[in-house]
Amino acid sequence: MKILTIVGARPQFIKAAALSRELKSRAGVEEILVHTGQHFDKNMSDVFFDEMNIPKPKYNLEINSLGHGAMTGRMLEGIEKLLLDEKPNMLLVYGDTNSTIAGALAAKKIHVPVGHVEAGLRSFNMRMPEEVNRILTDRISDHLFCPTDTAINNLKNEGFNDFDCKIHRSGDVMQDAALYYAQFSEAKSDVLAKLGNPKNFVLTTIHRAENTDDPIRLTSIISALNEINKSQQVICPLHPRTRKILENLPEKPAFSIIDPVGYFDMIELLKHASLVMTDSGGLQKEAFFFQNACITMRDQTEWTELVDNGYNMLAGADKEAILGAYDTMRSLNLDFSKDLYGGGMASANIANVLVSL
Ligand code: UD1
Ligand code: UDP
Repeated sequence: MKILTIVGARPQFIKAAALSRELKSRAGVEEILVHTGQHFDKNMSDVFFDEMNIPKPKYNLEINSLGHGAMTGRMLEGIEKLLLDEKPNMLLVYGDTNSTIAGALAAKKIHVPVGHVEAGLRSFNMRMPEEVNRILTDRISDHLFCPTDTAINNLKNEGFNDFDCKIHRSGDVMQDAALYYAQFSEAKSDVLAKLGNPKNFVLTTIHRAENTDDPIRLTSIISALNEINKSQQVICPLHPRTRKILENLPEKPAFSIIDPVGYFDMIELLKHASLVMTDSGGLQKEAFFFQNACITMRDQTEWTELVDNGYNMLAGADKEAILGAYDTMRSLNLDFSKDLYGGGMASANIANVLVSL
């Protein structure tokens, strides 16, 4: 079984770390990693390969910093060429980025079976590039690896049971990664010492286009975080997209901004934070894995089970709504023992399917 795996953006390195480790342990499986180049700064890419022992990509297409059309189009062309050269039995893609749709589309058109890890998620907001990418990727995938029951139901509701594809309830590979790397993070990370060993802080990240590309939403989020920072330290590893846009925004962050950090640092921040406030997809779940309540500064989430169970509150991007959510969520005493994401078995479940094909 020869698998070509497409990665390109930060969350995909973390997801691939979990599954690649599992695939390496299986006899008869050869995995070739292709990095599209979508994320390229050292602290957005290399750091994960170095720290997490992810196999070195055999190819890096170095395609980044372009509009959706040019980025996806160039990736499509580059990946098709690699597929024709390498002739894999299967192409694997993760999540919902431009690298995901480019990989899936390239493979499907030349009849290479497609496996989609993190299939079936929906925000029901078609203005999000991620929603377009994930719906199209799901539709042309042969194996849909769903992290949650909600994801399976979404696919059923869209008629996927009648399509020529297989739906698997795999669990979430991000939980596998969190459980595995959390064993080593304390020894490997110095982020807390560098920050002066902060206590009782809010961990925040902001990078989604729906927030960064709308000055009203971004101003309101920054203003809310500035307000919270007056009584509780707010620490923000900042995505380069947001950093660039903030340079031209009149509302300046007064809270602690740091460069993007590696995964071990992120785990240590999550272990020691009191609350997470984010628009990230992955971080909403990691808040739960590391027993933090979460405020999601978006209008929808794909991880609805976190909201339904009271771990996460959707606050949108309105300052008063964010401050109201902060007042509610900071004082909760939650029981985090529920198993919502497969308990760390997702990679093994996916590998079992792949080796049986
Ligand atoms: C992408 C995904 C988003 C995901 C995020 C994870 C799409 C459409 N979006 O968004 O779903 O949540 O990755 O982090 O695929 N940049 C740098 N250095 C880097 C990476 C990016 O400077 O290492 C800059 C780029 O030059 C660009 C901007 O950040 O100006 C946005 O990068 P891009 O890859 O287009 O999208 P993300 O916002 O990272
Ligand atoms: N992350 C990280 N360092 C950071 C910010 C995030 O390692 O400085 C990790 C985070 O812990 C999670 C993943 O990156 O595992 C989430 O990626 P991101 O928020 O960029 O994308 P999304 O999940 O929203 O697509």
